[in-house]
Order: sequence, then structure tokens, then C-alpha cells
Amino acid sequence: MEYTAKKFTLPSLDGISDESVKQHIGLYEGYVKNFNAISAKLVEYAKESTEKNAIALGELVRRKSFEFDGMRLHELYFTQFEGGSKALDEQSGLGKALSAEYHGYFVEYLKAIAGIRGPGWAILYYDPAGKQFQMGFAGEQHQGHFVTLPVILALDVWEHTYILDYGAAGKGKYVDAFFKNLNWGVIEQRFEKATT
Ligand SMILES: [Fe+2]
Repeated sequence: MEYTAKKFTLPSLDGISDESVKQHIGLYEGYVKNFNAISAKLVEYAKESTEKNAIALGELVRRKSFEFDGMRLHELYFTQFEGGSKALDEQSGLGKALSAEYHGYFVEYLKAIAGIRGPGWAILYYDPAGKQFQMGFAGEQHQGHFVTLPVILALDVWEHTYILDYGAAGKGKYVDAFFKNLNWGVIEQRFEKATT
């Protein structure tokens, strides 16, 4: 079954232009389209002959997770802006857990991860089994994930997120704008879901 691109109800963002968001959503829709196309092609090749199509199958399987992770991470990303900016509730489950584990340096830590060179995502995960957060950098979008852990916060730091508004050296300004626009209510709900 094909995946359908989601529609996001986004307010105007502070420090991230409407045009940048529009182009970014276009890229997201490209991931959905490419994932569907690769999935269909894989079925076609596998039905025809796995032996004859072994090389093509191998390459497409590798690309499939790239497209899927791009699709899902962008859905997590844009949803974080829906409903408008809302501060983290320090008394919420997430607020208390972040404070207990990171002692106030969480945002600076995530910003440092976002500053890692190269395309990728700075991601906050939560491990319900280990009862702790994991923060990491997913190279491109399919490398370096903590498997099975739910994503609590996803920060896209590919160049396409900031080059239009801030130029090639503007990642830091974009990351600041990202945090200004977050609806922490959405992120708190993800944490609740991960811990119940
Ligand atoms: Fe992106």
C-alpha cells in the first residue's frame, strides 16, 4: 500500500520563512514519492527474478530506508511546529525528566549536536527500558539511529533548512529559530506515549 504525504497545519514561523518551509515540505513530499516508487520497483524486480536483478535489488533496498527515514523524520519535524510556539512545562513528565538527566544543559547539548558538520539530524530519543534519554546525530537520516527507541524531538540540520534564510554559514541562527517556534506540548505528548 502506498504512503500518502501528510498535510501540516503550520503557523507562520519566527525566523524561518514561509518560502523556506514551502520548499522544505516539497522535499518531504519527495521522500514519500520516492519511497513509494522504490517499494513498487522492488516488488517488480523480485517477482521478475531475484537472481537477475540482484544488484539493482541490493541498491534499492539501501535507498529504501533512506527515503523512509526522511519521510518519517520530516513528519515528526513539521508536527513540532503545529499549534504554535509553546514553552516546555517544567512540571510535565518531560520537563522533570529532562531536568533530572541534563541539569539545565539539554538545549545547549542538543544545539552542539546540531552543529556537527555534514547533513543530518540532531535527535532526542527516550529509552523506556533503560529509563533514560539518548541524544544522537543521525547522518543524512538513516545512519546512527538508536534502534527501537522512540523519537521525542527531531531537529533537521540539513543545509536546506537554513540556506535560503541565512546562507551557507547560517545553521546556528536557524537552530535558534527552530527552538523559538517549537510547540513543546507536542513533544511532551511524545514522551508521555513513550513512558506509558
Ligand atoms: Fe529536511
